[in-house]
Amino acid sequence: MSDHSIRFLYLSQEDLIEAGAFDLPMAIEAARQGLLRYRQGRILFPDKIVQIFDEATQDRINCLPATLLDEKVCGVKWVSVFPGNPVKFGVQNLSAITVLSGIEKGFPLCVMDGTLCSNIRVAAMGALAAESLSRRDSRTIGFIGAGEQARMHLLGMKSVRPSLDTCYVAAKYAHEEQDFIRTLEPLLPDVRFIACDTQLRRAVEDSDIIVTATSAQAPLLKAAWIRPGTFYSHIGGWEEEFAVPKLADKIVCDDWETVKHRTQTLSRAYKAGEITDRDIYGNLVDLLDGSKPGRERDDEFTYFNAVGQAYIDVSIAWAMYTRAKAAGVGTEMAMQRSMIFEKPDLKDKIRL
Ligand SMILES: NC(=O)c1ccc[n+]([C@@H]2O[C@H](COP(=O)([O-])OP(=O)(O)OC[C@H]3O[C@@H](n4cnc5c(N)ncnc54)[C@H](O)[C@@H]3O)[C@@H](O)[C@H]2O)c1
Repeated sequence: MSDHSIRFLYLSQEDLIEAGAFDLPMAIEAARQGLLRYRQGRILFPDKIVQIFDEATQDRINCLPATLLDEKVCGVKWVSVFPGNPVKFGVQNLSAITVLSGIEKGFPLCVMDGTLCSNIRVAAMGALAAESLSRRDSRTIGFIGAGEQARMHLLGMKSVRPSLDTCYVAAKYAHEEQDFIRTLEPLLPDVRFIACDTQLRRAVEDSDIIVTATSAQAPLLKAAWIRPGTFYSHIGGWEEEFAVPKLADKIVCDDWETVKHRTQTLSRAYKAGEITDRDIYGNLVDLLDGSKPGRERDDEFTYFNAVGQAYIDVSIAWAMYTRAKAAGVGTEMAMQRSMIFEKPDLKDKIRL
């Protein structure tokens, strides 16, 4: 009799890290390939499903599928975003689980932690943008916001700009800046960290690269603080005054058509008539496939905003799964050992 079992690999976050899948260059490459393959029509990307439980806090769980046709894998990220978690419960805002299925039989291949992948994806997109849009000799980076996204973003930026040697950080509370430094200092021993004691201006006025990654919905970053030649990666919602994107020589998005319907600064500025479609230089993939140049002058102020494309999550999850399989980590689980009517003693267990 043929084998009718269905087995998949379960990969916890610890398994992924053990396998060496916390690998920024690997994720950046997977993100690059994902963007290029999507442009080539090699990825299926249906609409996401959003369930918001609280309009005021935006507590939500989203379901985001995508299929990589060349790899023959279909994936879905099931992700929760509860912005109040850090303050209310002292736990993280975002958690995710990812399922990968093969598209030959349709059976699941893997159920894995998706939080690591999701956070790395945001950083990988920022890093890819920085590769094209930041100065090659960038040495200083400044953060407004010191949470999960900010931390991962520093690792991504350091991967593509190893010349970074100074990191400023400003958050809502000084203790968050200290936490940021305590976790990152051992990982980046050649970087000097400077806590700005909640003085946001101090974090950015001497920075070649600026990152805002806050849970605020307020115009925190001011145009007057930005020097010519800076690259700015915007991660959160409404984080800077409209004068910031208006100052930019080049505004690049992961996907402008998606960005403009959301609620972050660029979308708000667009809806308020402060910027138009013509002010957008392009999407990141235009820089990657060479259809548009990235940074052209040392004094350009370049601006990047990604809202997240789930096919990039699936591309990175696939790279992580492949790495974990090769490393032999994880727990193999049987979803079924046989088909329903092949089970022994069914007569004693079934209820009619
Ligand atoms: N663009 C994307 O693809 C993407 C993906 C995931 C998360 N996000 C967004 O990124 C943002 C950060 O997420 P996180 O998980 O790092 O959150 P977090 O809660 O871990 O950190 C938020 C940070 O914002 C800071 N902050 C809040 N109000 C501030 C203020 N007034 N002044 C200075 N700092 C302030 C806090 O001090 C904290 O350090 C959120 O808005 C989240 O929705 C974006």
